[in-house]
Amino acid sequence: MSKIPIILDGDPGHDDAMAWVLANASDKLDIRGITSCCGNSTIEKTTYNALRVCALIGLKVPVAKGGKRPLLAEPMNAPSVHGESGLDGPELPEPVFDIEDLDAPSLIAKLVEESEEPITLVPTGPLTNIATFLLTYPELKHKIKHISMMGGGVQFGNWTPAAEFNILVDPEAADIVFKSGIPITMAGLDVTEQALIFPEDFERIRALGNPVAIIVAEWLEFFYEFHRTIGYAGAPVHDAVAVANLIMPDLMESRDLYVQVETTGDFCKGATIADFNNKYEKEPNAKVLMGIDREGFVDLMVDMIRTYGEVAK
Ligand code: BDR
Ligand code: CA
Repeated sequence: MSKIPIILDGDPGHDDAMAWVLANASDKLDIRGITSCCGNSTIEKTTYNALRVCALIGLKVPVAKGGKRPLLAEPMNAPSVHGESGLDGPELPEPVFDIEDLDAPSLIAKLVEESEEPITLVPTGPLTNIATFLLTYPELKHKIKHISMMGGGVQFGNWTPAAEFNILVDPEAADIVFKSGIPITMAGLDVTEQALIFPEDFERIRALGNPVAIIVAEWLEFFYEFHRTIGYAGAPVHDAVAVANLIMPDLMESRDLYVQVETTGDFCKGATIADFNNKYEKEPNAKVLMGIDREGFVDLMVDMIRTYGEVAK
């Protein structure tokens, strides 16, 4: 079976990092490149973290840095969730290579142009790079097969009652992506809040004993510490769902829906509004993930992290 060629775009971030650990371990995915965006922390920090994660997991692909800010909105970060470095917790290896001279949208364009097969984009942060790529290189849109993204939520938000963080940080970018016509799978809060890794699962991962497993267990502990204080029973590893969806789509339940992004408003800025009752009579523009087999998801994480102990990466 041929591998799915993907580009990872994110703002690591604990759950971005775990999503990349998962993607790199899967023999179903072929990571062609990585782009950083600002979101959980500044672009300098997310880019440095991206390179440190690559060093940890032995991933050697081109990495490019995104811009300093969202398209129009004021920059916003999440140190309360991910710490001051944007990836606090265990000590990580220093980068073993440097970023490309190209900026993130240009690297996406280069990789898409060079690829013989259409590419799947896997954004797990604000959609600034993806929107800029689509605006700058419209002639390459037809070579994007699918966007499997983490962001939004059609029932509730996490940063405001209505908005999820990634969409709220850059609502205009999200609006461009949802209007692009490219097939989208949306791993929003509807599903990712169910993708909980419980403390007993941390121990399963730690017990695998390889260096990646030990770091992932410590990331989970750090990430859970914040979530525990606000009532979670486990760590919601949001971003890994966008990757798991490509590896084991059968774990997911979904609905095809027409989704719009609210870019303004006093209360609903950054909300992803799904037309459940087909009021607009529009074709669905997104497969919205609504449920996940949690235990199957955790087993997948464990199985994938186990490979770092078996293969010289
Ligand atoms: C999203 O926000 C970030 O803090 C996480 O990395 C994830 O992408 C969840 O709302
Ligand atoms: Ca993220």
